[in-house]
Amino acid sequence: MRIFVPLDSAAKALGADEVADALAQQAQARGVDVRIVRNGTRGMVWLEPLVEIDTPEGRIGYGNVTADQVPDLLDGKLNGLGRVEDIDWFARQTRLTFARCGLTDPLDLDDYAAHGGLVGLRRAIGMTTARIVQEVIDSGLRGRGGAGFPTGIKWKTVAEAEAPQKYIVCNADEGDSGTFADRMIIEGDPFSLIEGMAIAGLGVGATRGYVYLRSEYPDTIHVLTQAVQIARQRGLLGPDVLDSGRAFDMEVRTGAGAYVCGEETSLLNSLEGKRGTVRAKPPLPALQGFLGRPTVVNNVISLATVPVIFERGAQHYADFGLGRSRGTVTLQIAGNVRRGGLFETAFGMTLGEVVNDIGGGTASGRPVKAVQVGGPLGAYMPVSKFDTPMGYEEFDSQGGLIGHAGLVVFDDTADMLRMARFAMEFCAVESCGKCTPCRIGAVRGVETIDRIAQGDPAAIPLLTDLCETMKDGSLCALGGFTPFPVMSALTHFPDDFATLQEAAE
Ligand code: NAI
Ligand code: SF4
Repeated sequence: MRIFVPLDSAAKALGADEVADALAQQAQARGVDVRIVRNGTRGMVWLEPLVEIDTPEGRIGYGNVTADQVPDLLDGKLNGLGRVEDIDWFARQTRLTFARCGLTDPLDLDDYAAHGGLVGLRRAIGMTTARIVQEVIDSGLRGRGGAGFPTGIKWKTVAEAEAPQKYIVCNADEGDSGTFADRMIIEGDPFSLIEGMAIAGLGVGATRGYVYLRSEYPDTIHVLTQAVQIARQRGLLGPDVLDSGRAFDMEVRTGAGAYVCGEETSLLNSLEGKRGTVRAKPPLPALQGFLGRPTVVNNVISLATVPVIFERGAQHYADFGLGRSRGTVTLQIAGNVRRGGLFETAFGMTLGEVVNDIGGGTASGRPVKAVQVGGPLGAYMPVSKFDTPMGYEEFDSQGGLIGHAGLVVFDDTADMLRMARFAMEFCAVESCGKCTPCRIGAVRGVETIDRIAQGDPAAIPLLTDLCETMKDGSLCALGGFTPFPVMSALTHFPDDFATLQEAAE
């Protein structure tokens, strides 16, 4: 009998290791032949640890299993959730990037290949470099790290640059609050990232790759390091990738915990062993990146999506989505929400559907007040904007951003002035210090919000003015985007900025 217990960090935090240990002990004590597979997560975090028992009818799920429930589980006395694929939350998704996550054993390359893995790379090996790049352009894939720049155009810039050495750098410094897609795909399906990086290498003529992975993800580092070793042993990486006569190899590098190192130029500095400060652009990393060479810097999800694009074809991918946002978006639903987790769907679902229908509303049962979309630099979207479809341009037109597609839900007890203050404080702490609007502005921002809290009406226009300066004058997104949460809080929740002032009047 095969029993699946996720090795995903979130599942482990909720007791998955203890459940796996209890299963192994009970199986041995009972003399039952049980094979425990540590799979990735299916993304339904509110059900973790989600244990699955393989049966002739399919994989039957058991949610929130604890170690002391294991005897009942083996005795068939626990209530199951039915086939995991039939759970409504799961069945409603379009899982392209995450198709294998939770289904397969993350470190079994044969299992990976048995579920569509390596088909894309083999197809890419038969293509010219220009054709590979064109396939990515045709898919409409845009950078999933946050900025949404067309991935294929970035690859084209690198492919056409003349240089003796080029690089693929994967940005796995997933620092946005409420985001976990990068971590989940690496822990649950690491070969998809490795395959995506190999295809990128073939496409642009790069023979070396690096994954810059945050130190706060020790389980992820462990899984990916093992996966890279396996890939090398099996010829997926190395001097002759899958007997193609072309070379591509990669290594995992660990960051040291600075949010700004998720910004691509800061990341490159850190990767080169320098202090993680932002470089001015131009030159673009695509032309002068790692060690001054042309470099593709892509987010984990962008690269891990590449294999399915080559497996099923660019058109298949491009057929999903809305407007200029093609394919699927890997929504990370978190905060005060009943059903949090990773939900992959075609672009186009409205924010309200995601929060209320998929997320089930707040965990507290109180009304939703705001949803911060796009990490700590994303705007607070009020309920009045719940009909905004998930799409880059659609969010932009409403003063928001999709960013890395993390959603953090707040109920009506949230104090938006405090949230605005937190944004400025976060920027002050994480600023790399290179430019004045961010380095000084964020500190002044905290002070100005404190003045508003004390009832000083003159501080409100000052805050607006400061936000304009930070937006227009900052060198990178940290200082430039901090005004989004601050100004959205001020604009949509003015009452939270007026209480003390009114009380004083
Ligand atoms: P950007 O708009 O400056 O650049 C986007 C990407 O396109 C970069 O890789 C840039 O080098 C590339 N690019 C631009 N023009 C190009 C050209 N002509 N040829 C080739 N490549 C070109 O945005 P930036 O500053 O890189 O990212 C900002 C975003 O990062 C924000 O939207 C924010 O949501 C997101 N972010 C994500 C975080 C995470 O944890 N994933 C954390 C913090 C911010
Ligand atoms: Fe550094 Fe902030 Fe300027 Fe970005 S905006 S370069 S983090 S000081």
